Amino acid sequence: MNHIGIGQKLISKVEDVTPVVLRAMAGGSDRRLRDLVTSLVSHLHQFVIETKPTEAEFEYGLRWIAALGHHTNDFNNEVVLAADVLGISTLIDLINNDGMQGETMSALLGPFYRGESPLCASGDCIARSATPGPALHFSGRVVDVDGTPIEGAALDVWQASPVGLYENQDETQEDFNLRGRFRTDAEGRFHFVSVKPAGYPVPTDGPVGDLLRAQKRMPMRPAHIHFIVSAPGHKTLITQIFADSHEALVGDVVFGAKQQIVGDFVRHDATDPAYPGAEPPFYTCHYEFRLVEGVSSMPVPPISGKKG
Ligand code: BEZ
Ligand code: FE
Repeated sequence: MNHIGIGQKLISKVEDVTPVVLRAMAGGSDRRLRDLVTSLVSHLHQFVIETKPTEAEFEYGLRWIAALGHHTNDFNNEVVLAADVLGISTLIDLINNDGMQGETMSALLGPFYRGESPLCASGDCIARSATPGPALHFSGRVVDVDGTPIEGAALDVWQASPVGLYENQDETQEDFNLRGRFRTDAEGRFHFVSVKPAGYPVPTDGPVGDLLRAQKRMPMRPAHIHFIVSAPGHKTLITQIFADSHEALVGDVVFGAKQQIVGDFVRHDATDPAYPGAEPPFYTCHYEFRLVEGVSSMPVPPISGKKG
């Protein structure tokens, strides 16, 4: 349906455009969609009016957005990466997860969550192919905000290898290397073995890399392990536990590091009977995840497969 009235004059100057476009978008039965789109259009028009891009700049911008799509496939999601390096994902995260009820703070899902990771038994090692780096014994508990253990909570875990690549980016790693799913016991406890995470660069071979280079920004993420912690009747927690220096946390290219979710990674230089078979030097980390009551749901994985 055309919302431009019969008696209405045609657009002839810059100031005419926004009201005409907003009027054209005033229909539809989905109020939320209308509010979102009209606000987005108003801000975009204001941005264009303020910055007055040239036609060449506009074409470049459109090509950059199209390239986000061309660089998105089963094993890379450049659209998510763009939202991350622009700080939009962190804004959305903090608006929706303020941690005010005592729950563990969330962090970005990122572009490398695959879903469908192998189910593991407590204590299993998630390094499925030769993976360099010192071993890590990660243990913890899942509790509610009153400290009551949550039995049967699911933990979906994934991390990059110490050479800085997730298995989906790296043909030399086994399928689902450094990915696994665990369940808590009756006391809410879980435990797995892995390698100590290292910091890594986000992919820079696409349009996001072009932007970072133009801005002279380092593409680095601080070392971390991703977790999705879920249990019936509790809001699903999507988070990361960080293992890096303050400098690396502050320099996070996707603005995703938070103090509350920095883990205590302890180095062990001698064998320890509490960790049978662990060759020194190895690391341990213990973290307690606190879930708030709410709806349990899983995110849609941004990727589904592996390169190669
Ligand atoms: C990640 O932690 O996997 C990640 C997050 C945002 C952008 C790139 C990678
Ligand atoms: Fe990551």
